[in-house]
Amino acid sequence: MLRRSLFVAISCAAAAHAVNGAHAQEANKIGLVLPLTGVLGPVGKQVQAGAQLYMQQHGATAAGKKIELIIKDDASVPDNSKRLAQELIVNDKVAVIGSGITPSAMAIGPLSTQSKTANVVTVSGTSGVINPNNPYMVRTSFTLGQQSGIIGEWAAKNGSKKIVIVQSDWAPGAEATAVFTDAFTKAGGQVLDTIKVPLQNPDFSPFLQRARDLGPDTLFVFVPAGQAGTFAKQFAERGLDKAGIKLIGPGDIVDDNDLPGMGDAMLGVVTAGIYSAAHDSKLNKEYVAAFEKANPMRPNFISLGGYDGMHLIYAALDKTGGKTDGDALINAMKGMKWESPRGPISIDPDTREIVQNIYMGKVEKVNGQLYTVQFATFEAVKDPLKMKK
Ligand code: PHB
Repeated sequence: MLRRSLFVAISCAAAAHAVNGAHAQEANKIGLVLPLTGVLGPVGKQVQAGAQLYMQQHGATAAGKKIELIIKDDASVPDNSKRLAQELIVNDKVAVIGSGITPSAMAIGPLSTQSKTANVVTVSGTSGVINPNNPYMVRTSFTLGQQSGIIGEWAAKNGSKKIVIVQSDWAPGAEATAVFTDAFTKAGGQVLDTIKVPLQNPDFSPFLQRARDLGPDTLFVFVPAGQAGTFAKQFAERGLDKAGIKLIGPGDIVDDNDLPGMGDAMLGVVTAGIYSAAHDSKLNKEYVAAFEKANPMRPNFISLGGYDGMHLIYAALDKTGGKTDGDALINAMKGMKWESPRGPISIDPDTREIVQNIYMGKVEKVNGQLYTVQFATFEAVKDPLKMKK
């Protein structure tokens, strides 16, 4: 019964979308459901700051119509994300819903499918979030697979032979581990163990001790944005840097938001990531300056999902001439290409996945502060897990 009334409510919302375009004065609403508090609060704050900066720079109008951004905090709890998204779709009649992190995007997915509402996943690193069953979803963040296969091959070619994996125990971590292990072992390396650390209140110390006792030459680590600072502190406290164990990973372990406070134990850490605040382009220099002016933090790789998510929505509205039905918007988004502060990006028209450069980077001091300095580029990388199918 409840399901049915939800379905009716959602169908009405879909109908409302169809007539939205007729009211030229009304704003197009964009609803963004994010974890502004809770275990992944730092993630939501970066997405929010990125989205707001885009509007500040480009104005609150697209296709000649006002844009109203409504941001809701789901406190990192997927049940909340679902309820808030339902309210945004049914009551606020948003033209587009924005979602993330992985569990929340998965909770919201069926609502966007039923109501035919375009759903821009501004943060999720898990491949399966975008799939053929949710045709209105598109990703502007990254997948862990995009980065982990590249660092796996790089490690094997650059002297790593025996690796221990330390992985935050949830979906993107499992994906980082699977893709890394596949690439690294195919290239001749050996994974001694995979150690899983809880997502909530992580204490890395005992896991790091266990990892050290196994005698690896390298640690491959995935922790989500917001936890790299704690990780780095405990890595140094346990003396792993002094033990000569190399640290590598996807870009998450050198989160630009945390890097300034992570300490010199991080010098020399090598990652394959989508972004660095030190990325050398005019657009990025302007982005970092404007972001730091508006917020008490450095933009990190997460912020781009919000910034580019807003660009994608604005550009799609322009292309449809302001039409907001999900089919028109998603069709407009497919194949879209543009320059982001992270570099050139596009939306794969077949999979609705982001295609982007992956940069090898090394932590160095620039003007006395820790930054990831990019030293090699893999161009236009697709989600490897979708290419296999
Ligand atoms: C995710 O939601 O999948 C996610 C969030 C933060 C990260 C990586 C992945 O750093």
